[in-house]
Amino acid sequence: MNRIAVVPGSFDPVTLGHLDVIERAAGIFDEVHVLVVHNPDKQALLPIAQRVQLLQRSIADARVAGSITVAAWSVGLLVDYCTEVGAHVLVKGIRSQVDVAYETPMAIVNRNLAAVETVFLLPNPANAHVSSSLVRQVAALGGDVSPYVPRAVYEYLKET
Ligand code: PNS
Repeated sequence: MNRIAVVPGSFDPVTLGHLDVIERAAGIFDEVHVLVVHNPDKQALLPIAQRVQLLQRSIADARVAGSITVAAWSVGLLVDYCTEVGAHVLVKGIRSQVDVAYETPMAIVNRNLAAVETVFLLPNPANAHVSSSLVRQVAALGGDVSPYVPRAVYEYLKET
């Protein structure tokens, strides 16, 4: 049986913490779909297509092993995408109790909607403080985000 997992998120932009979770998921599942989803609760920095491109470049640069597809989803529920590609598992990274509180209701709703389970992975503690919102803020104020993001993201943010 081909075990397919979806790693969803805003990825605005992808961070080293995200990349770590993607790499771990690719080591566990036969196929991983990294899915960029628009989150209306967040003020976006990058267009969705740019986030997809930066994810593709970052995954390629990091030479992440495994079958990984990067896609975007904006037409409905996250579980609809899972059904479309035959995935029964979502993978999320958990950095803290705050993440547990944020992720738990979504995991329960997704399971109720379409029997899609959520697997939580503990990323490298070195990335525990890294978030896209922090990167957006530091970048907007002219700070150095190189310790937190893949090279492709660092270069893109430097140029814009
Ligand atoms: O990186 P984020 O912003 O924390 O990711 C949150 C995201 C985009 C995964 C979440 O908002 C989501 O799943 N949105 C899709 C809409 C949906 O299916 N909602 C109902 C179940 S939670």
